[in-house]
Amino acid sequence: MPAPARTVRVSLTRTVDDSYDILIRPGLLAEIAADLAEARFGQAYALICDSTTEELFGRRLLADLTSRGLPAQLFGVPAGEASKSIETFAGLLASLKTARFTRKDCVIALGGGMVGDLSGFVAGCYMRGLPFVQIPTTLLAQVDSSVGGKVAVNVKDGKNYCGLFHQPRRVYIDPTTLSSLPRDQLLSGLAEVLKHALIADRSFYDFLLENAPAVLGLAPEAVSHLVATSCAIKAKVVEADEREAGLRMILNYGHTIGHAIEDAMAYALPHGQCVAYGMRVVARAARDLDLLPEPDYQAHETLLDAYGLATEPLRLDPDRIMTLALGDKKAGRDRLVFVVPRAIGRVEIRDDLDHAAVTRALGHILA
Ligand SMILES: NC(=O)c1ccc[n+]([C@@H]2O[C@H](COP(=O)([O-])OP(=O)(O)OC[C@H]3O[C@@H](n4cnc5c(N)ncnc54)[C@H](O)[C@@H]3O)[C@@H](O)[C@H]2O)c1
Ligand SMILES: [Zn+2]
Repeated sequence: MPAPARTVRVSLTRTVDDSYDILIRPGLLAEIAADLAEARFGQAYALICDSTTEELFGRRLLADLTSRGLPAQLFGVPAGEASKSIETFAGLLASLKTARFTRKDCVIALGGGMVGDLSGFVAGCYMRGLPFVQIPTTLLAQVDSSVGGKVAVNVKDGKNYCGLFHQPRRVYIDPTTLSSLPRDQLLSGLAEVLKHALIADRSFYDFLLENAPAVLGLAPEAVSHLVATSCAIKAKVVEADEREAGLRMILNYGHTIGHAIEDAMAYALPHGQCVAYGMRVVARAARDLDLLPEPDYQAHETLLDAYGLATEPLRLDPDRIMTLALGDKKAGRDRLVFVVPRAIGRVEIRDDLDHAAVTRALGHILA
């Protein structure tokens, strides 16, 4: 018998509190510098924007930070998903190093989900992790990507393949930033909002249906309520399952087919709008399989119609969409995993949904 190995145990059990606040108020953007001066998340601030948000909000925020005596430097990347890359990530790391940022400093992500995911990943990796705050400026980022701490960049053939869980220290949402957002981007974010109601909250469904004109007209009170409710729904799911071991998967409602449509359309249609088609397809298959009662199915259709989402028939081949869906990373081995609606506000995760029924349901959204 060999002598027992000498064992040195490295004891690292720890309790972590990554809790943070999401602040939502029209006009908040002008108050962020003052709040940061008080919160002191960092000594200096690396403000990351894309070319659009730099122009719209970034320079102004930089001036606010500087005038409050907070050392800050702006780092711009080109707008567009192509910037959520390893190359841009490496470029930002080098720029932060040249500018002598340290672990005592803080990253600010100012922009849509692309800037949030990229900047959060930079913050999580630079010198093994800096604090960061999010200032989401698209609806999709305000209700979805800025909540939950998933940050990533894309690698060739792999969207979000290289990433971390790195929670922000605070999220600042100013709904008035949405007034410059192109209509199709607004609709894309609204699809994720509708998704939150459809998976988890019947009374939010009622609010969205009653207030569709106010929401589409960006009435500040309606939009603030919608953003806060959406964030609360996502936050509750994330609190229960931060690392996506189970429940968090319900946030993928509409995404199994949505991602395949996004792919089939070569990303010409914004993400949320593809998800809206995906939700219509799964709801119809669920109805046809007697999993979703007819009145709930009709209510589901009514809400998407009220927002003009996924109303135009697409010119795509259903078999190709199913093949693409089977290639999706969220799709088990050969059975597709679907988030299946059982009523408005209630879903379940299933891997036994009949693929033929889903293919038939696709006929409903195709030309
Ligand atoms: N981390 C997560 O949990 C999560 C969840 C969902 C999506 N995402 C990611 O989010 C990204 C998509 O986010 P997105 O839709 O916000 O895209 P985006 O960040 O590319 O923004 C879309 C466009 O809107 C512009 N823009 C931003 N704010 C604006 C404003 N106020 N007015 C006018 N134009 C503005 C941007 O410059 C860009 O051209 C994807 O990379 C996706 O993978 C992440
Ligand atoms: Zn989505």
